Amino acid sequence: MTDAVLASDATTIGSADAAWWRQAAVYQIYPRSFADANGDGLGDIRGVVDKADYLAELGIDAVWLSPFYPSELADGGYDVADYRDVDPRLGTLSDFDDMIAALHGRGIRVIVDIVPNHSSNRHALFQAALAAGKGSPERDRYIFRDGLGENGERPPADWQSVFGGPAWEPVGDGQWYFHHFATEQPDFNWDNPDVHAEFLETLRFWSDRGVDGFRIDVAHALAKDLPEVLPSQAELDAMDTTTGRHPLFDRDEVHEIYREWRRVFDEYDPPRIAVAEAWVATPERRARYATAEGLGQAFNFDLLEADFDAAQFRHIVTVNLAQSAATGSSSTWVLSNHDVVRHATRYGLAPRDGSTAKQGSAWIIAGAPADQVDLARGGRRALAASLFLLGLPGSAYLYQGEELGLHEVGDIAPEDRQDPAFFRGADPERDGLGRDGCRVPLPWERGGSSYGFGAAGAHLPQPAWFARYTVEEEAADPASSLSVYRHALALRRALQTAETLEWIETGRDDVLRFARPNGWQVVTNFGEEPFPLEPGATVVLGALEGGAVAGESTVWLRD
Ligand code: GLC
Repeated sequence: MTDAVLASDATTIGSADAAWWRQAAVYQIYPRSFADANGDGLGDIRGVVDKADYLAELGIDAVWLSPFYPSELADGGYDVADYRDVDPRLGTLSDFDDMIAALHGRGIRVIVDIVPNHSSNRHALFQAALAAGKGSPERDRYIFRDGLGENGERPPADWQSVFGGPAWEPVGDGQWYFHHFATEQPDFNWDNPDVHAEFLETLRFWSDRGVDGFRIDVAHALAKDLPEVLPSQAELDAMDTTTGRHPLFDRDEVHEIYREWRRVFDEYDPPRIAVAEAWVATPERRARYATAEGLGQAFNFDLLEADFDAAQFRHIVTVNLAQSAATGSSSTWVLSNHDVVRHATRYGLAPRDGSTAKQGSAWIIAGAPADQVDLARGGRRALAASLFLLGLPGSAYLYQGEELGLHEVGDIAPEDRQDPAFFRGADPERDGLGRDGCRVPLPWERGGSSYGFGAAGAHLPQPAWFARYTVEEEAADPASSLSVYRHALALRRALQTAETLEWIETGRDDVLRFARPNGWQVVTNFGEEPFPLEPGATVVLGALEGGAVAGESTVWLRD
């Protein structure tokens, strides 16, 4: 075993380790559903402080916090009313400072979410745009157009928003504004220098407060080029998104924005890091967001979109490692986040039912009735896939609750749902049940109100079966998902090595085996037949059954 350990093994955050992010394990916190310290039903910043020891014990290198800013919650906080404050329901800036201190003191870095494509309609800049009227400099910060028809009574185009429903909203004076997402999320006009200034100030504000990096929401949509005569939705749909010249997505000039941001990141020591959420057409297009002059890293959702299938996994890993080696970035891996059905549940669905292929929108995967999900199989496969992922070179992004093996909550009543994607989606078959099922507050304790989430219950109802997935229950069981994650994350640190792997042929289509340069090996059996290992293999994680890797499981070996 190598003596080399990740710099992030240190218990304090130093300036020397500028490359800390390259192979970090990053844990996503969806703050309103993590832990509620003040007992108002919503998770908060002090809840994160209270759970700092839990996070340290889990063994992650960083947390990424989804938005905690003031918001009307039209889209779970991704409708930001003020980029430089904390939602009063979630705490104060001073609580935020305490959280940074608590996490940094335990060697955990902090990444915050920046939402630059759109603000909330309650944001002061949008309110000013409405008040100032047509043709004003204030309106130019957003995307306003005159409506069609004599008095502008018809929308400028028939475009549909990502959540369903029209993407243009009238403001009562013949003008309409464009919103990719919910009506409450007007898109910024990134041709306007004020918008640039607003975000440079925001990046400095949080960097000055000690945050280590940023996750950039919808990073591929900021730059737009809307012609005088707008194309129809059908024409938009037919346009190629790989050329860098689509009017709305992945335009080449978006990278000018990130070059500007990079100069700010590099003002700090160590430089602030960033990871792009860019749902683009190919790994090649994605790599453009991950350059050293740009954001540095980009989410790779390929595994998240794949089936539990050896050939798909191998292909994805090979392509993405080559891509990141070519650009000097490091790859990212992710199986779950706050936008998709949890992977334990996806993997329990019949083949392809959980895939995005039949979905119009890549990031809303149709939920399925609970009786169509094989929960045990999904749980087994999820753990196998997570341990495969944690052995890969590059950074691993984990979503709160996956360490517990938590399933999607599929049966939330319509009146309890919050996600605009559910309400705006015309057809649940096509558009899915929305994303509330992966955002249900975490179960911490066996009993009590809301399984220990907080004193006032949970803002999305928790099902009775959450009792079997509590931190309390699992921490006491060495065979639980939580215990295996803890063990894996500790070993991952100890074994971490150069960012490459070599495939070892297994003679089976459904078994993958790879070795890292220091002799750390990962074997994942995607099939049901046990895979016999050669005698004498040193297993460091997982267990063999009769000398074989059991079906739908992963083991780690070392020389
Ligand atoms: C991103 C977020 C998602 C949000 C959307 C609009 O895709 O991950 O949760 O709804 O952007 O901000």
